Amino acid sequence: MISIPKKTEKKSKHAASHIHASIKKTSKKDKKIAAAPKKSKDSIVQDQNSDTILDTYDFYSERIPLTVTIIKKHGEFVPTYSLQISAISKTTELILEKVRLELIRRVSLGTEDIGDIKKTDLVEDKFNELIGILIDKYFPDSDYDTVNFLRSYLKINSLGLGNIELLMSDETLEELVINQASEPAWVYHKKYGWLRTNVYLKNEEQTKHYASIIGRKVGRQITVLTPLLDAHLGTGDRVNATLSPVSTNGNTITIRKFSKDPWTITKFIKTKTIAPEAAALIWTAIQYELSALIAGGTASGKTSALNVFANFFPPNQRIISIEDTREIVLPKFLHWVPLNTTLPNAEGKGEINMGDLLVNSLRMRPDRILVGEVRRKRETETLFEAIHTGHSVYATFHANSAKETVERLTNAPLDVPSIMLPAISLVIVQFRNRRTGKRRTFQIAEIMPGGEANVIMQYDIKKDVLVQVSKSKALYDNISLFTGMSDSEISKELEDKVKVLNYLVDKNIADVDGVGRIVAEYYTNKDGLMKYVNGKKDFPLASQLTLEVPKENPSQPTKEVQASASKSDKKEDKKEENKKEDAKKEDKKDSKENKDIKTEIKTISAQTTESPKPEAKNDAHAKSESHEKEKHEKHPEKSHTTPLNKKDTSKEKAKPRFSFPLLHLKK
Ligand SMILES: Nc1ncnc2c1ncn2[C@@H]1O[C@H](COP(=O)(O)OP(=O)(O)OP(=O)(O)O)[C@@H](O)[C@H]1O
Ligand SMILES: [Mg+2]
Repeated sequence: MISIPKKTEKKSKHAASHIHASIKKTSKKDKKIAAAPKKSKDSIVQDQNSDTILDTYDFYSERIPLTVTIIKKHGEFVPTYSLQISAISKTTELILEKVRLELIRRVSLGTEDIGDIKKTDLVEDKFNELIGILIDKYFPDSDYDTVNFLRSYLKINSLGLGNIELLMSDETLEELVINQASEPAWVYHKKYGWLRTNVYLKNEEQTKHYASIIGRKVGRQITVLTPLLDAHLGTGDRVNATLSPVSTNGNTITIRKFSKDPWTITKFIKTKTIAPEAAALIWTAIQYELSALIAGGTASGKTSALNVFANFFPPNQRIISIEDTREIVLPKFLHWVPLNTTLPNAEGKGEINMGDLLVNSLRMRPDRILVGEVRRKRETETLFEAIHTGHSVYATFHANSAKETVERLTNAPLDVPSIMLPAISLVIVQFRNRRTGKRRTFQIAEIMPGGEANVIMQYDIKKDVLVQVSKSKALYDNISLFTGMSDSEISKELEDKVKVLNYLVDKNIADVDGVGRIVAEYYTNKDGLMKYVNGKKDFPLASQLTLEVPKENPSQPTKEVQASASKSDKKEDKKEENKKEDAKKEDKKDSKENKDIKTEIKTISAQTTESPKPEAKNDAHAKSESHEKEKHEKHPEKSHTTPLNKKDTSKEKAKPRFSFPLLHLKK
């Protein structure tokens, strides 16, 4: 009999035993460590000759409770990430393996079937049906949580990526890699960097099998003839796989995890990635439609920074984002069209690359274009063309400093003429400290009329602060050229923005939608917002919104709205036919139509606030919403937001204005 700790329980006290042949047995010594009482962060075991527990925490992979212990073993250079399934005995593990084999035999799952996308639903249905029967047979009288645990466990070990999938559920991991089956999997931990794990794959065949499952999920194959696979999963995770002999030591899998909790300016300021003053400068440049490049080294946080700064876009502009993998998450009320590249199929056809999308985006009447990464000559040329034709463009670029950005752009193979460079007003450089792993904004530079970079702010690595190193020459000029503002007016704007940014931090408004709403408020009702900011009062956010019939047709009607539109079209026709009918009848019909539309909008709003969405972006939104909802349920008095369709009558009088596509404020 096994017992599954409830989600609310902090941790199982039992030393977790290893659960699968491929999670390597913990040695007696390790077990001793695992069983040792948990140390607080301040009282880390300090004995020079013994192993040190650096950290320990629990998380769930679906319904599977897991415990991680990060151990610095004596004499080893790299700490070990030890993953264990809490509360499962060796006997249970053996029975589970037996059940798994019976399951595979009875569902007659071949390796082909498991990976075949067309058969996925069929296999899953068969699997779910049978699993209930087998759990009843082998684990009668199991409680609800146990049954759920067994289901998850059997599912990931039969149809999924086994222990790799367990690792993928750890939110503190950025990357996980398999170098070869005879070596443990490695993970890149947000706090501890690269760690060796206790997770092994059985053999090279299993690595290949997992790579095939991933490949078929995205409709691609990995074979001896096509031994390289690049896949962007629906969850947003980015996967690369290589087969031996291309990778000489064995088959490899590299997974870059999609962060389900998108970065925002609040989190950037809180983690000291950027100072409010620097963020205010970037915000002002973005507000007045100046283009910017976000530069940095590999994994320095370029894309995260692009996402953070894109939250400064005004709500009434059309945004097109172009990426290889869907990483960018913007507030849901923005006017945003995300585009993604596609890889060629097995015959090498059907590729749509960044350059194609960039050219296409220019025909979509964008105000702002976000480009995941510019690498090639064609993309760079189109990027400059886009800026010269009046668009504001924001892209990430691989370079370690503002100077290097200019050098890389102006030399082969990109060869952008220096004269064109000032089209980019700002270069923001992100940086990862190679010793501490901390990510920071390293430089904020403006591009001068001659094409050279003038660094305005520079990160002081010793003091861990971003300091102003020179006065802006071109940036203020550009802003006043496009806005007519004087230097002192610009400085006042910067001060106000610093206040708003500090307010976001003080009030812990840290999710994408919350930050987006405050920014939208800044643009649409600055005086109203500043009253809250200066008075340090809680901003009511969504609780201020009430629904009203939109005065104009929404620009991107949903199915429901279209249905409603065609309904009201028909009604309009009828109205035409009966034009001469008496006024009383007319009035009656009008009021019914208004009621219909109101109901439609309520339905749409309920869907926006309640229904979970399958896509990665929506997952993240759903998560932040459900988090807010949970928070609100637990501490209604502390919560900043209430569901859109719930009216907070207590604060109704001070209603600010937003102009969302479907939602209008009652005056
Ligand atoms: N300010 C930050 N503090 C801590 N972690 C961060 C910060 N910014 C980004 N990260 C994390 O660093 C990792 C890499 O970030 P990101 O993908 O933005 O980098 P990148 O420079 O775009 O990488 P690549 O070169 O692969 O495109 C992510 O896991 C992200 O969550
Ligand atoms: Mg990136």
